[in-house]
Amino acid sequence: QALDVVVVGSINVDLRLDVAAIPRSGETILARGMQRAAGGKGANQAAAAARLGRRVAMVGAVGDDDAAALVLRRLAAEGVDTATVAREPGSTGTAIVLWERPESTIVVHAGANAAVTAEMVRERAETLRRARAVLCQLETPVEALGAVVATAPGLTILNPAPAQGPLPHDLLARFDLIVPNRFELGNLAGAPDEPRTLAEVEAAARSIGSGADWVVTLGDDGSLVVPGDGGDAVHVPALPVDAVDTTGAGDSFCAGLVDALLDGAPLLEAARWATRVAAVTTTRHGAMDSLPRRDEIPEAAGATR
Ligand code: RIB
Ligand code: NA
Repeated sequence: QALDVVVVGSINVDLRLDVAAIPRSGETILARGMQRAAGGKGANQAAAAARLGRRVAMVGAVGDDDAAALVLRRLAAEGVDTATVAREPGSTGTAIVLWERPESTIVVHAGANAAVTAEMVRERAETLRRARAVLCQLETPVEALGAVVATAPGLTILNPAPAQGPLPHDLLARFDLIVPNRFELGNLAGAPDEPRTLAEVEAAARSIGSGADWVVTLGDDGSLVVPGDGGDAVHVPALPVDAVDTTGAGDSFCAGLVDALLDGAPLLEAARWATRVAAVTTTRHGAMDSLPRRDEIPEAAGATR
Protein backbone atom coordinates (compact mmCIF):
# COMPACT_ATOMS: atom_id res chain seq x y z
CA GLN A 1 0.00 0.00 0.00
CA ALA A 2 1.41 3.39 -0.99
CA LEU A 3 2.20 6.02 1.61
CA ASP A 4 2.26 9.74 0.90
CA VAL A 5 4.97 10.63 3.39
CA VAL A 6 7.48 8.74 5.51
CA VAL A 7 9.25 10.84 8.12
CA VAL A 8 12.64 9.57 9.26
CA GLY A 9 13.27 11.61 12.35
CA SER A 10 12.99 12.51 15.99
CA ILE A 11 10.25 11.93 18.51
CA ASN A 12 10.43 13.94 21.73
CA VAL A 13 8.42 14.76 24.77
CA ASP A 14 8.37 18.55 25.08
CA LEU A 15 8.50 20.19 28.50
CA ARG A 16 7.30 23.67 27.67
CA LEU A 17 8.01 26.29 30.31
CA ASP A 18 6.32 29.68 30.05
CA VAL A 19 9.06 32.19 30.91
CA ALA A 20 9.14 35.99 31.04
CA ALA A 21 12.74 35.99 29.77
CA ILE A 22 15.48 33.51 28.93
CA PRO A 23 17.67 33.12 32.05
CA ARG A 24 21.25 34.34 31.86
CA SER A 25 24.14 31.99 32.59
CA GLY A 26 24.14 31.20 36.31
CA GLU A 27 20.63 32.55 36.84
CA THR A 28 17.58 30.67 38.17
CA ILE A 29 14.13 31.91 37.22
CA LEU A 30 10.57 30.81 37.92
CA ALA A 31 8.34 29.66 35.05
CA ARG A 32 4.75 30.88 34.93
CA GLY A 33 3.41 27.56 33.68
CA MET A 34 4.35 24.18 32.25
CA GLN A 35 2.92 21.78 29.69
CA ARG A 36 4.15 18.33 28.75
CA ALA A 37 3.27 17.29 25.20
CA ALA A 38 4.43 15.17 22.29
CA GLY A 39 6.93 16.92 20.02
CA GLY A 40 10.18 16.48 18.15
CA LYS A 41 10.80 17.85 14.69
CA GLY A 42 10.21 14.47 13.03
CA ALA A 43 7.03 13.67 14.93
CA ASN A 44 5.71 17.20 14.42
CA GLN A 45 6.29 17.00 10.65
CA ALA A 46 4.58 13.61 10.54
CA ALA A 47 1.58 14.89 12.51
CA ALA A 48 1.46 18.06 10.39
CA ALA A 49 1.27 16.07 7.15
CA ALA A 50 -1.36 13.77 8.67
CA ARG A 51 -3.49 16.77 9.71
CA LEU A 52 -3.33 17.97 6.11
CA GLY A 53 -4.86 14.62 5.16
CA ARG A 54 -1.77 12.69 4.10
CA ARG A 55 -1.09 8.99 4.71
CA VAL A 56 2.00 9.11 6.92
CA ALA A 57 4.35 6.62 8.57
CA MET A 58 7.09 7.43 11.04
CA VAL A 59 10.55 5.83 11.21
CA GLY A 60 12.03 6.71 14.58
CA ALA A 61 12.64 5.49 18.10
CA VAL A 62 11.27 6.02 21.58
CA GLY A 63 12.54 4.84 24.96
CA ASP A 64 10.99 2.49 27.48
CA ASP A 65 9.77 5.24 29.83
CA ASP A 66 6.31 6.73 30.38
CA ALA A 67 7.08 9.49 27.85
CA ALA A 68 7.22 6.79 25.15
CA ALA A 69 3.62 5.80 25.82
CA LEU A 70 2.55 9.46 25.71
CA VAL A 71 4.17 10.21 22.35
CA LEU A 72 3.15 6.94 20.69
CA ARG A 73 -0.45 7.35 21.78
CA ARG A 74 -0.42 10.87 20.44
CA LEU A 75 1.07 9.95 17.05
CA ALA A 76 -1.47 7.15 16.66
CA ALA A 77 -4.27 9.60 17.52
CA GLU A 78 -2.96 11.88 14.76
CA GLY A 79 -3.29 8.98 12.32
CA VAL A 80 0.46 8.45 11.91
CA ASP A 81 1.50 4.81 11.43
CA THR A 82 4.00 4.02 14.20
CA ALA A 83 4.65 0.36 13.34
CA THR A 84 8.19 1.30 12.25
CA VAL A 85 9.01 3.20 15.47
CA ALA A 86 11.54 1.23 17.53
CA ARG A 87 11.43 0.83 21.31
CA GLU A 88 14.86 1.30 22.86
CA PRO A 89 16.01 0.86 26.45
CA GLY A 90 16.40 4.22 28.20
CA SER A 91 14.74 7.60 27.85
CA THR A 92 12.64 9.02 25.05
CA GLY A 93 14.04 12.20 23.45
CA THR A 94 13.32 15.22 25.62
CA ALA A 95 13.07 18.90 24.66
CA ILE A 96 13.11 21.70 27.19
CA VAL A 97 11.18 24.46 25.47
CA LEU A 98 11.60 27.90 27.05
CA TRP A 99 8.64 29.74 25.63
CA GLU A 100 9.24 33.48 25.71
CA ARG A 101 6.26 34.58 23.66
CA PRO A 102 6.18 34.33 20.76
CA GLU A 103 9.59 32.66 20.29
CA SER A 104 11.05 29.62 22.01
CA THR A 105 14.58 28.64 22.95
CA ILE A 106 14.97 24.86 22.93
CA VAL A 107 17.45 22.35 24.31
CA VAL A 108 17.05 18.76 23.11
CA HIS A 109 18.41 15.57 24.63
CA ALA A 110 18.44 12.88 21.91
CA GLY A 111 17.75 9.85 24.12
CA ALA A 112 16.26 7.09 21.97
CA ASN A 113 16.50 9.27 18.84
CA ALA A 114 20.19 8.29 18.72
CA ALA A 115 19.06 4.81 17.63
CA VAL A 116 17.83 6.08 14.24
CA THR A 117 20.96 4.88 12.44
CA ALA A 118 21.68 3.93 8.84
CA GLU A 119 21.23 0.31 9.88
CA MET A 120 17.75 1.05 11.24
CA VAL A 121 16.81 2.84 8.01
CA ARG A 122 18.00 -0.13 5.94
CA GLU A 123 15.93 -2.48 8.10
CA ARG A 124 12.88 -0.35 7.28
CA ALA A 125 13.69 -0.04 3.56
CA GLU A 126 10.38 -1.65 2.63
CA THR A 127 8.47 1.24 4.26
CA LEU A 128 10.68 3.87 2.60
CA ARG A 129 10.10 2.24 -0.79
CA ARG A 130 6.34 2.66 -0.38
CA ALA A 131 6.67 6.41 0.20
CA ARG A 132 5.97 9.08 -2.40
CA ALA A 133 8.04 11.47 -0.27
CA VAL A 134 10.51 11.14 2.61
CA LEU A 135 11.17 13.97 5.08
CA CYS A 136 14.29 14.11 7.29
CA GLN A 137 15.71 16.52 9.88
CA LEU A 138 18.92 16.61 11.93
CA GLU A 139 17.64 15.61 15.37
CA THR A 140 18.53 12.01 14.53
CA PRO A 141 22.01 10.79 13.51
CA VAL A 142 23.33 12.40 10.31
CA GLU A 143 24.81 9.04 9.26
CA ALA A 144 21.30 7.76 8.47
CA LEU A 145 20.75 10.36 5.72
CA GLY A 146 22.87 8.49 3.18
CA ALA A 147 20.78 5.36 3.72
CA VAL A 148 17.59 7.37 3.28
CA VAL A 149 18.57 8.89 -0.09
CA ALA A 150 19.89 5.52 -1.26
CA THR A 151 16.55 3.86 -0.50
CA ALA A 152 13.75 6.39 -1.05
CA PRO A 153 12.40 6.23 -4.62
CA GLY A 154 10.34 9.43 -4.49
CA LEU A 155 10.80 13.02 -3.39
CA THR A 156 13.44 13.50 -0.68
CA ILE A 157 13.34 16.58 1.55
CA LEU A 158 15.86 17.61 4.20
CA ASN A 159 15.05 20.14 6.92
CA PRO A 160 18.59 20.59 8.31
CA ALA A 161 17.42 21.48 11.82
CA PRO A 162 18.91 21.89 14.31
CA ALA A 163 22.20 23.11 12.78
CA GLN A 164 24.94 20.48 12.93
CA GLY A 165 27.73 22.20 11.00
CA PRO A 166 28.51 21.80 7.29
CA LEU A 167 27.34 18.55 5.64
CA PRO A 168 29.07 16.93 2.64
CA HIS A 169 27.87 18.63 -0.53
CA ASP A 170 27.53 15.31 -2.32
CA LEU A 171 25.11 14.16 0.39
CA LEU A 172 23.05 17.37 0.08
CA ALA A 173 23.04 16.94 -3.69
CA ARG A 174 21.12 13.69 -3.34
CA PHE A 175 18.11 15.47 -1.81
CA ASP A 176 15.49 17.04 -4.06
CA LEU A 177 14.73 19.88 -1.67
CA ILE A 178 16.50 21.44 1.33
CA VAL A 179 14.58 23.64 3.77
CA PRO A 180 16.80 25.44 6.30
CA ASN A 181 16.19 28.64 8.22
CA ARG A 182 18.63 31.50 7.84
CA PHE A 183 20.85 30.34 10.70
CA GLU A 184 20.92 26.71 9.54
CA LEU A 185 21.78 27.83 6.00
CA GLY A 186 24.75 29.88 7.22
CA ASN A 187 25.85 26.94 9.31
CA LEU A 188 25.55 24.49 6.38
CA ALA A 189 27.52 26.88 4.18
CA GLY A 190 30.25 27.10 6.82
CA ALA A 191 29.82 30.90 6.85
CA PRO A 192 31.03 32.86 9.89
CA ASP A 193 27.81 34.93 10.04
CA GLU A 194 24.25 34.08 9.10
CA PRO A 195 23.15 35.53 5.76
CA ARG A 196 21.09 38.71 6.28
CA THR A 197 19.82 40.15 3.01
CA LEU A 198 17.88 38.14 0.43
CA ALA A 199 20.91 38.41 -1.86
CA GLU A 200 23.12 36.93 0.86
CA VAL A 201 20.62 34.14 1.49
CA GLU A 202 20.51 33.30 -2.22
CA ALA A 203 24.30 33.40 -2.47
CA ALA A 204 24.69 31.10 0.54
CA ALA A 205 22.27 28.53 -0.90
CA ARG A 206 23.95 28.67 -4.30
CA SER A 207 27.43 28.45 -2.70
CA ILE A 208 26.55 24.93 -1.59
CA GLY A 209 25.69 24.40 -5.23
CA SER A 210 24.14 21.03 -4.65
CA GLY A 211 21.66 21.16 -7.54
CA ALA A 212 18.84 20.65 -5.05
CA ASP A 213 16.01 23.15 -4.77
CA TRP A 214 16.10 25.36 -1.67
CA VAL A 215 13.37 27.04 0.31
CA VAL A 216 14.96 29.14 3.05
CA THR A 217 12.57 30.15 5.83
CA LEU A 218 13.06 33.70 7.12
CA GLY A 219 10.59 34.03 10.02
CA ASP A 220 8.73 37.36 9.76
CA ASP A 221 10.37 37.93 6.39
CA GLY A 222 8.70 34.89 4.81
CA SER A 223 10.88 32.60 2.72
CA LEU A 224 13.16 32.58 -0.30
CA VAL A 225 12.73 29.97 -3.02
CA VAL A 226 16.03 29.22 -4.78
CA PRO A 227 15.52 26.77 -7.67
CA GLY A 228 18.29 24.23 -8.16
CA ASP A 229 18.17 24.61 -11.95
CA GLY A 230 19.66 28.11 -11.71
CA GLY A 231 16.29 29.84 -12.21
CA ASP A 232 15.61 33.13 -10.44
CA ALA A 233 15.17 33.17 -6.67
CA VAL A 234 11.72 34.34 -5.57
CA HIS A 235 10.79 35.91 -2.25
CA VAL A 236 7.52 34.76 -0.65
CA PRO A 237 6.34 37.21 2.02
CA ALA A 238 5.00 35.99 5.37
CA LEU A 239 1.33 36.48 6.23
CA PRO A 240 0.54 39.16 8.81
CA VAL A 241 -0.54 37.26 11.93
CA ASP A 242 -0.65 37.75 15.69
CA ALA A 243 1.95 35.15 16.63
CA VAL A 244 1.69 33.75 20.16
CA ASP A 245 4.01 30.76 19.79
CA THR A 246 6.21 30.10 16.76
CA THR A 247 7.19 26.61 17.99
CA GLY A 248 6.31 24.08 15.29
CA ALA A 249 6.11 26.69 12.51
CA GLY A 250 9.16 25.33 10.72
CA ASP A 251 7.81 21.80 11.03
CA SER A 252 4.41 22.73 9.63
CA PHE A 253 6.10 24.67 6.82
CA CYS A 254 7.95 21.51 5.74
CA ALA A 255 4.74 19.48 5.87
CA GLY A 256 2.92 22.14 3.86
CA LEU A 257 5.63 22.05 1.19
CA VAL A 258 5.50 18.28 0.81
CA ASP A 259 1.71 18.33 0.82
CA ALA A 260 1.55 20.74 -2.12
CA LEU A 261 4.41 19.08 -4.02
CA LEU A 262 2.59 15.73 -3.80
CA ASP A 263 -0.34 17.42 -5.53
CA GLY A 264 2.03 18.39 -8.33
CA ALA A 265 2.27 22.06 -7.38
CA PRO A 266 5.31 23.99 -8.63
CA LEU A 267 7.81 24.88 -5.89
CA LEU A 268 6.76 28.52 -5.61
CA GLU A 269 3.10 27.61 -5.20
CA ALA A 270 4.11 25.00 -2.62
CA ALA A 271 6.04 27.66 -0.67
CA ARG A 272 2.97 29.91 -0.67
CA TRP A 273 0.82 27.09 0.71
CA ALA A 274 3.47 26.20 3.33
CA THR A 275 3.52 29.86 4.40
CA ARG A 276 -0.19 29.73 5.16
CA VAL A 277 0.10 26.43 7.04
CA ALA A 278 2.96 27.83 9.15
CA ALA A 279 1.13 31.11 9.78
CA VAL A 280 -1.75 29.29 11.49
CA THR A 281 0.73 27.30 13.58
CA THR A 282 2.23 30.50 15.02
CA THR A 283 -1.18 31.74 16.20
CA ARG A 284 -1.67 28.71 18.47
CA HIS A 285 0.10 27.38 21.53
CA GLY A 286 2.58 24.54 21.58
CA ALA A 287 4.26 22.63 18.77
CA MET A 288 2.30 19.53 17.73
CA ASP A 289 -0.81 20.94 19.41
CA SER A 290 -0.73 23.99 17.14
CA LEU A 291 -0.66 22.23 13.74
CA PRO A 292 -3.65 23.07 11.53
CA ARG A 293 -5.99 20.73 9.74
CA ARG A 294 -6.57 21.52 6.08
CA ASP A 295 -9.96 23.12 6.79
CA GLU A 296 -8.41 25.46 9.38
CA ILE A 297 -6.18 27.19 6.85
CA PRO A 298 -7.67 30.49 5.73
CA GLU A 299 -8.32 30.78 2.05
CA ALA A 300 -6.33 33.32 0.11
CA ALA A 301 -7.21 34.39 -3.38
CA GLY A 302 -5.70 32.09 -5.95
CA ALA A 303 -3.90 29.95 -3.40
CA THR A 304 -6.58 27.52 -2.28
CA ARG A 305 -5.59 23.90 -2.36
O1 RIB B 1 10.50 22.24 15.98
C1 RIB B 1 9.92 22.18 17.25
C2 RIB B 1 10.44 21.00 18.02
O2 RIB B 1 11.82 21.18 18.23
C3 RIB B 1 9.84 20.79 19.38
O3 RIB B 1 8.68 20.00 19.37
C4 RIB B 1 10.99 20.15 20.16
O4 RIB B 1 10.79 18.79 20.44
C5 RIB B 1 12.23 20.36 19.30
O5 RIB B 1 12.63 19.20 18.73
NA1 NA C 1 2.85 27.13 17.71
